[in-house]
Amino acid sequence: MIETNTNYKTQILEAKSGYFGRFGGAYIPEVLKPNMDALSQVFFESIADKNFVNSFKKACNDFSGRPTPVTYLENLSKQIGGAKIYLKREDLNQTGAHKINHCIGQIMLAKRLGKTRIIAETGAGQHGYATASVCARFGMECTIYMGQKDYDRQRPNVFWMETLGAKVIPVQFGSQTLNDAVIAAFKDLIAHPEETHYLLGSAVGPHPYPVLNTWFQKMVSEEAKEQVFKIENKLPDYVTACVGGGSNALGIFFDFLDDESVKLVGIEAGGKGKTPGEHAAKVSYGKEGIFEGYHSYFLQAEEGNISDTHSISAGLDYCGVSPILAYLHSEGRIQFDAASDVQTLDAMKMIAKYEGIILALESSHSLAWAIEKAKGLSNEEIILVNGSGRGEKDLFITMKHLQPESLQFFMEKQISELRDE
Ligand SMILES: Cc1ncc(COP(=O)(O)O)c(C=O)c1O
Repeated sequence: MIETNTNYKTQILEAKSGYFGRFGGAYIPEVLKPNMDALSQVFFESIADKNFVNSFKKACNDFSGRPTPVTYLENLSKQIGGAKIYLKREDLNQTGAHKINHCIGQIMLAKRLGKTRIIAETGAGQHGYATASVCARFGMECTIYMGQKDYDRQRPNVFWMETLGAKVIPVQFGSQTLNDAVIAAFKDLIAHPEETHYLLGSAVGPHPYPVLNTWFQKMVSEEAKEQVFKIENKLPDYVTACVGGGSNALGIFFDFLDDESVKLVGIEAGGKGKTPGEHAAKVSYGKEGIFEGYHSYFLQAEEGNISDTHSISAGLDYCGVSPILAYLHSEGRIQFDAASDVQTLDAMKMIAKYEGIILALESSHSLAWAIEKAKGLSNEEIILVNGSGRGEKDLFITMKHLQPESLQFFMEKQISELRDE
């Protein structure tokens, strides 16, 4: 039997106030209060309703291909010569990442609330792509906000969102990345609160978003726990995930929270260095504050303004972190570390070469940590990595770093063909 000890799981799911220790809350304009209260009420009612829970599971299975498997990375583990590394295959979901899980859940809540219009923000494009996909499937109007910088570097995902029927709006203020897309989406919600549901893409933002997205992601760890136990007859020794806002990390950590023997490690974007603006590691280098409606750790300049972030992966390029992760870190339950852009690219190359898997740059951060960690462990020990997404979306970024000449040749050829047409 799988044993449990503490009670973090209950504590988090029962936090109807939206506070996790001193973190969380809902610091929002008065005009949004009815909207957030209604969302909170329908969420807590729905998760207590068997019909809703079954319909959610069925949609995840039928539309997104759940349950996703765990894969033992045997070649890679043997090559490293230490612990066994397992990968939870969220990359095999519909639209290629874990984001679809909370998109399905939230669109079902929006339907229950009688909303007709969905808005969302996106960084890497994965959350926007998943949102556009569920909007097409569930028949809802869809508008996606995306920082201009992300709009440019994740252009293939913009193309797919538009093909799925979404309107994609590039955001041209601030640093033109995810933070600014979140602000633009909140502005839209303030202007159209009646008919709109803001389908927020991570376990961040004002209450109830952190707990709500954690609930819709927690099946990832419920499945993985059973899957690893079935193969190994024990729980993993370490579970690790990359941390942008924290939805995939909370998904893979949640069901292990009360298993004291399992060490949980969140990996942030170490980027190019420790200087502000060179990374996106908010727990490692950030300060406590209140931004975008919640109390957590944020990357801030001296005077308290939000500082610029950098990561090779657009999905981790965000200034804040889930208040639930901040709380669990303050409790000592979750440790944080960072992987650099270079370590991430190396990990991405290794898993491709030894396992035939093209992993997202976001997830390759946690794989990079696992590779280093595994070297110092025995082959009796197990590290479970959340493979939060697949790497095809990163083609242009990855190619620019690994084969710049081939990319240049390809682009020039495409442009000359376009000119000749
Ligand atoms: C594949 C993938 N993994 C991880 C993330 C980070 O988000 P979160 O921390 O909410 O899981 C993103 C964000 O876009 C993503 O696309």
